[in-house]
Amino acid sequence: MHIEHGTDLAPLNTFGVPARADTLVRLRSPGEAHDLLRRPALMAGPLLILGGGSNLLFTADWPGLVLLPQIFDREILETQGEVVTVAGGAGENWDAFVRWTLGLGLGGLENLALIPGTLGAAPIQNIGAYGVELRDHLLWVEAIDLREQRSCRFYNADCGFAYRDSVFKREPGRLLITRVAFRLSRRPELELDYGEVRDELAAAGIASPTALQVADAVSAIRRRKLPDPTQIGNAGSFFRNPVVPAAQAARLSAEHAGMPQFAAYGGVKIPAGWLIEACGWKGHRAGDAGVHIGHALVLVNHGNATGGQIAALARQIVASVSERFGVTLEPEVRIV
Ligand code: FAD
Ligand code: EPU
Repeated sequence: MHIEHGTDLAPLNTFGVPARADTLVRLRSPGEAHDLLRRPALMAGPLLILGGGSNLLFTADWPGLVLLPQIFDREILETQGEVVTVAGGAGENWDAFVRWTLGLGLGGLENLALIPGTLGAAPIQNIGAYGVELRDHLLWVEAIDLREQRSCRFYNADCGFAYRDSVFKREPGRLLITRVAFRLSRRPELELDYGEVRDELAAAGIASPTALQVADAVSAIRRRKLPDPTQIGNAGSFFRNPVVPAAQAARLSAEHAGMPQFAAYGGVKIPAGWLIEACGWKGHRAGDAGVHIGHALVLVNHGNATGGQIAALARQIVASVSERFGVTLEPEVRIV
């Protein structure tokens, strides 16, 4: 186990905002996490588990322990005909893991290509993109319950997955995810009907795509639409898309011409990007904190913004969307 003090967290969060960790421990194995539990002095203060820092906003220094799971391994666990079970360690880069599965000829995760972050964080908010969510292919999650001090395995049905939500998210710092397994297929059913995926493939002259070609198409769309965190600090969608009851959606639609709406998650999903753009925020800049010029749902750090400045901008956006539409935006990004 590697222990540091006063670690600079700016390179460890994709907003690139300044913050320091009082103590930071890099964990190389689940065994090291159990060793840590035998050192109560280290675990006494507030605890933050940090993956790739691509869904976090630091508004202050972290006064306690930051745990960085750097557990790396990828494994084929079982093959049953076309169905193959694979697993990987929490520290694996998500996109590299997806590409590894595709390289094995396995489909399922292709629509989730190029999402930043680690494998261990992917179940936290049940990552999703282009019509697929993690829960569609996840078999189990192995974790260490830091409160109960024991290892546990959660099968898919026990994970409480919902839109950008899971049991792991509800008590941050309690469950340290160490390993994640997926059931994938050599003959996957491809999901091509969401967003621009079909158009992207058609433009490339591909009529019957492979899973790998779908991943490449999704990656191309993402590179075009979303800012690259290595160029401009951001954490992807800052807010979740609100899902409202059908009656409220109908009222909003009658009052606001052109508002896009989609049946989803048992209600009606309204793109938060549209609501924010309609309030005039797209491209807005307050010092170095801003709203991306190309996508209103993405808050950005133009260089030297603090987390506090970005959080203040987020609060202003929530207030203006609420005032104009009566809809309360909720952050997807964890603000700490
Ligand atoms: P972090 O930001 O480090 O942590 C996120 C949360 O998970 C924190 O609460 C943290 O405490 C917890 N956590 C991290 N690792 C563990 C662990 N091993 N055990 C327990 N808790 C842990 N998300 C989507 O769903 N879909 C998208 O399409 C998408 N696009 C994005 C595009 C961009 C450009 C960016 C910057 C982000 C995007 N995101 C998207 C958000 C982000 O990539 C995901 O939420 C990702 O899973 C976060 O991974 P991370 O390792 O960076 O987690
Ligand atoms: N829109 C605008 N103005 C904008 C941006 C978007 O009006 O500036 C409207 C348009 O109508 C557009 C619609 O919003 O058609 C949807 O936009 P987009 O296709 O970019 O998707 P999104 O709803 O903004 C969601 C996820 C993304 C995911 C994409 C693709 C959430 C909060 N975000 O974005 O996830 O990659 O769909 O599936 O659900 C993330 O979670 O960080 C993330 C990037």
